[in-house]
Amino acid sequence: MVSLRVEGLRKSFPGVVALDGIDLNVREGEYVVILGPTGAGKTTLLKTIAGLARQDSGHIYFDQQRVDTLMPFQRSVAYLPQNYSLFAHLTVWDNVAFGPTVQDWSPRRRDQIVREMLNLVHLSDRRNSYPRELSGGMQQRVALARALATQARILLLDEPLRALDARLRLELRQELRTLAKYLGITTLHVTHDQEEAISVADRIVIIRKGKVVQAGSPKEVYEDPSTPFVSNFIGEANFLQGLLSRVEDGFSVIMLSDGRHVMGRPTNVPVNSQVVLGVKTDFCNVYHGKVEGQNSFTGTVVRSLFTGKRTTLEIQTGQGLLKAKVPSDQSLSEGSEATLRFQPENGIVYPIPNEGLQVALEVE
Ligand SMILES: Nc1ncnc2c1ncn2[C@@H]1O[C@H](COP(=O)(O)OP(=O)(O)OP(=O)(O)O)[C@@H](O)[C@H]1O
Ligand SMILES: [Mg+2]
Repeated sequence: MVSLRVEGLRKSFPGVVALDGIDLNVREGEYVVILGPTGAGKTTLLKTIAGLARQDSGHIYFDQQRVDTLMPFQRSVAYLPQNYSLFAHLTVWDNVAFGPTVQDWSPRRRDQIVREMLNLVHLSDRRNSYPRELSGGMQQRVALARALATQARILLLDEPLRALDARLRLELRQELRTLAKYLGITTLHVTHDQEEAISVADRIVIIRKGKVVQAGSPKEVYEDPSTPFVSNFIGEANFLQGLLSRVEDGFSVIMLSDGRHVMGRPTNVPVNSQVVLGVKTDFCNVYHGKVEGQNSFTGTVVRSLFTGKRTTLEIQTGQGLLKAKVPSDQSLSEGSEATLRFQPENGIVYPIPNEGLQVALEVE
């Protein structure tokens, strides 16, 4: 098993900074998900680690060995590109055998590893099929087996579940993790899907505009998002802007534009600063009619979006449109009066972003 370390990685293209000083530490055998919006630099990061793109500056280490001067094939990396394609004229077996054949392994060793990889992805009985005879999910598994057959030390997966339908995506994402853990291979899995990230990662690294914005366990990045962007990107959040007026009983007290006060978690931001409080829509409750009290906002339900077990309610209040994800059996109909409430411990207080809240939240 091998650890991966990336230090100060920078890469620009004409007019675009794709990687703006990325630092990354991945432990041996760890399954890390790189999560970020489109254009964040995810693919560029994987390509640089694989050796298919050259960084402008910064270094990459596997264990203590610097690898950024090595050719791709010398790095022992299995890379499954975002737009992989199988060799259409080769059978499943020959697709998987491709790497070992190019690397000139003995036929015995090659056949053994191909057999093992096909077993692992449950495709042994399709070894003689051609890619066009397989379903999308099966093709994905062949691509994975082909990448793994080189017995690499590090697995790089770029949106590995992108092309699959929703149901298969759910199934395969657990399989990927199980497989990586079984092989003990250190894995970087790139996605822009926060739900996928949360459900498979040991640790999530969120990148935006070529920079790491937060790294932590799924629970940490969900419960303690370090910026409004992360708060809104992992799940969805409401934001209330105001003046931090004081700290009371360990909670921040914020005066909103209409003079009302709202309470949130303690913060390092100095009193009398402009702040924004973010609260996940998952942590907002909704009651019928007007309910007075702490952290409550009354208004009219303008939209009710049923998604199965949960329903998203959009409520027009004096503080703008606020959303809550509630159990569907507690949903309210459009047009009815409703009060949205949340606990102060679920409200996270941030300094107002320099670029303004709207820009800070943009998923470009
Ligand atoms: N070969 C290239 N030439 C010029 N610009 C590039 C090249 N590759 C990437 N870029 C730019 O670098 C930035 C990061 O691109 P990258 O493909 O790494 O993003 P990404 O996070 O993988 O996005 P997506 O989720 O859409 O795949 C983008 O602005 C992109 O246009
Ligand atoms: Mg990409």
